[in-house]
Amino acid sequence: MALRLGDVAPDFTADSSVGEINFHEYLGDSWGILFSHPADYTPVCTTELGAASKLKEEFDKRNVKMLALSVDGADSHRSWIEDINETQDTTVNFPIIADEDKKVSELYDMIHPNSNESFTVRSVFIIGNDKKVKLIITYPASTGRNFAELLRVIDSLQLTANYSVATPADWKRGEDVVVAPAIKTEDIPSKFPKGFKEIKPYLRTTPQPDL
Ligand code: BEZ
Repeated sequence: MALRLGDVAPDFTADSSVGEINFHEYLGDSWGILFSHPADYTPVCTTELGAASKLKEEFDKRNVKMLALSVDGADSHRSWIEDINETQDTTVNFPIIADEDKKVSELYDMIHPNSNESFTVRSVFIIGNDKKVKLIITYPASTGRNFAELLRVIDSLQLTANYSVATPADWKRGEDVVVAPAIKTEDIPSKFPKGFKEIKPYLRTTPQPDL
């Protein structure tokens, strides 16, 4: 059955560019982002892994461990990483799972046969520190991901995990958030001492509570 939000992210042990990895042990108490790419030595994937490596510090700040995956082998990953480092002016600083037997791709439904029978699509799974799946996005092979957007989503996921708020369209860290519908308007002042605006009874905003 397809993986859904709220499910425990399936555990696995697999070879990678840095040796064998057990997914849950690798995550430890951190959040995680697991993302697949169609194949090594492909242009869009090369730029994506470069972009992700340059943002490692931002993922670290949010306590998120990165893990990439493709169905190529570990030796191929290691040689390709040299190309990524050279062409993208960075150092790949997270492991790439070598899923030659497609065990992990199948576990996470990363192969969409009507798109391509053998390669993974660009799946993204964000996993909370409770090991549960918080977000799933699927991009086609022809569209490289926006890693700044993934960081923005992580900011929202981590904020809304801790406060009774939701983040509106295009929200970025530091902007006002929406008070969760379950909170009665009369209870807002005690829960959100920074104040609030009632635009409609169902649309109440408050400054980001954790700043
Ligand atoms: C790429 O990463 O460039 C790519 C991979 C598969 C199909 C199209 C593009």
